[in-house]
Amino acid sequence: MVNLANRDLVTIDDLSNGEIEGLFSLADEMANSMNAQSALCQGKIMASLFFEPSTRTRLSFEAAMHRLGGRVISAVDIGATSLAKGESIADMAKVVGSYADMIVIRHPWEGAARVVADYAGIPVINAGDGSHEHPTQTLCDLYTIRKERQIIKGLRIALWGDLKHGRTVHSLIYALARFGATILFCPGPGLEMPEHVLSRLSTEYRGELKRCRDLNHNVESGYFPIDAIYMTPVSPHQLAMLPDISLGVELKAGVDALYVTRLQKERQAPTVEEKEPIKGYPVVDKKLLKGKEFKKTLVMHPLPRVDELTHEVDADPRSMYFKQAAYGMPVRMALIALLLGAKEVKITKGQDSFVQKVDYPVYKRDSGVKCLNAKCISNQETEVKYIKPEFKIISREPLTLRCVYCDHDLHPKYIASSDWHEGKLESKKYHRADSRWARKIKPENLIIFASEKQAQARQFKPSTYAKNE
Ligand code: CP
Repeated sequence: MVNLANRDLVTIDDLSNGEIEGLFSLADEMANSMNAQSALCQGKIMASLFFEPSTRTRLSFEAAMHRLGGRVISAVDIGATSLAKGESIADMAKVVGSYADMIVIRHPWEGAARVVADYAGIPVINAGDGSHEHPTQTLCDLYTIRKERQIIKGLRIALWGDLKHGRTVHSLIYALARFGATILFCPGPGLEMPEHVLSRLSTEYRGELKRCRDLNHNVESGYFPIDAIYMTPVSPHQLAMLPDISLGVELKAGVDALYVTRLQKERQAPTVEEKEPIKGYPVVDKKLLKGKEFKKTLVMHPLPRVDELTHEVDADPRSMYFKQAAYGMPVRMALIALLLGAKEVKITKGQDSFVQKVDYPVYKRDSGVKCLNAKCISNQETEVKYIKPEFKIISREPLTLRCVYCDHDLHPKYIASSDWHEGKLESKKYHRADSRWARKIKPENLIIFASEKQAQARQFKPSTYAKNE
């Protein structure tokens, strides 16, 4: 038995595959005795902080806590909290952490849940942070797939719609990669999976990405658009390889689940919102589902839907989206009970994560490098006073940093070593990050600059390796 008490769920990677399977077994138990769990969390209080609209996540979390015998305090409008007066997320987290036993938070800033978890001192669950992640939706999605198909490994799952801004697909893709599914991307125009998500897939999960270039051809021939195919490892440390991807063959092989998402209008640039709706957003309807490749396909959607999934398919036995939403109750009951220590998970031997995540060195120096994502919590006026940018060093060639808050990548151009200057001003030199000399600097001695100006502002001078070699 494994005790998950006092853990956070900020990213889907906070739970191992074995823990997720254990949680699902507990969710099965909860589903079978929904009204007999009211002693589990008696006396406990959950703070439900939803600073973006929600129906499913907020109400299922709150109902789950009530069903477990606990109580709920809530805030659903930033304007009605002291955040509106300029209070920081960290201060809010510390205060709420002294009132409640657990926090569930939805916030538009990417990385907000991570900061709440860092400061609250009680378990924190991310109920969606901007376009970043929505791990409990992923638990509902995986639970649905597992209920219908028993196993996730080897399934072929197509992600459809707004892959750029949809946080549900971002968390889901990491989980599917870990469980060994093959993922097909079917984005709306201009809504492709962001590079930082693809980069995380290929670096942290060691997966291989194959891009299909014949997008227009597919649309004309009646196939839904496919942007890329991500092949997951077939066994630990071994990549699946498909040297010549033929889209026709891929489709004929069938799709086990079609995961549809709506256009995230609220996350489009303001100029886009004012224009006509994006043309060519792919729609799933009866006609599309007549295709042979969808004969046994589970049609999934995290909801809410708008126009991308027609109501005519609701009665189709392949449609899973209302089941997905309903499963939110036992899944979230199980999660709350586990993080409050009211239950433990059984983990079967050999059920550990399919892919071992890579542990990268972390860069924490205050050398002026900042995350480039304007929606990252580390760039917000109320938060910069205490948040120090922090990055995983993903690669030295090319130098790639990944923000620990929002997972966006950046490629700073200049570096120096803390070991060289030894206090002597004349030897404080900076170099191009891709120069031969720079590659010799040990990770623990790295000083990283986004620009020469940044290096010079810290009294570093250009070395002969600061120019192009
Ligand atoms: N799927 C989901 O997160 O729905 P809500 O926005 O209604 O919570």
